[in-house]
Amino acid sequence: MDMPLATPILAHPERNRHLVENPSIIRDLVKRGIEIQINSGSLEGIFGESARRTARCLLKEAAARLVASDAHGPLGRSTDLSGAARALSSLLGEEAPRLILGENPGLILEGEELASTVSDSQLTSRPSRKRSWRRSR
Ligand SMILES: [Fe+2]
Repeated sequence: MDMPLATPILAHPERNRHLVENPSIIRDLVKRGIEIQINSGSLEGIFGESARRTARCLLKEAAARLVASDAHGPLGRSTDLSGAARALSSLLGEEAPRLILGENPGLILEGEELASTVSDSQLTSRPSRKRSWRRSR
């Protein structure tokens, strides 16, 4: 079996101003096999509107297939993903929380290809890949 030794994951690009202003960088990374992980707090808006909007766009384009708490330790950020689950359900449908919060992290650990998080019909309605995620576009 030809399994990768590790799956590279870029955490919370939606919080990096340079990446938000240059979405082609993220798309190029995705094409090279980098997985994108969104912070649950970004989806809930606690890091501001720019992070929330970018997180939503990355998920709708299926560029991001993982969402996590980004809690670096027992103190500080919450590991409660219920708000993210609600946001994912409303954004991508009722199956999305199970896939993005449960199945895909498990597949990473097994070295398997991640499950598709966006249906073809949803993808056809996504914004043009040439457009920026910034509000001023
Ligand atoms: Fe982090």
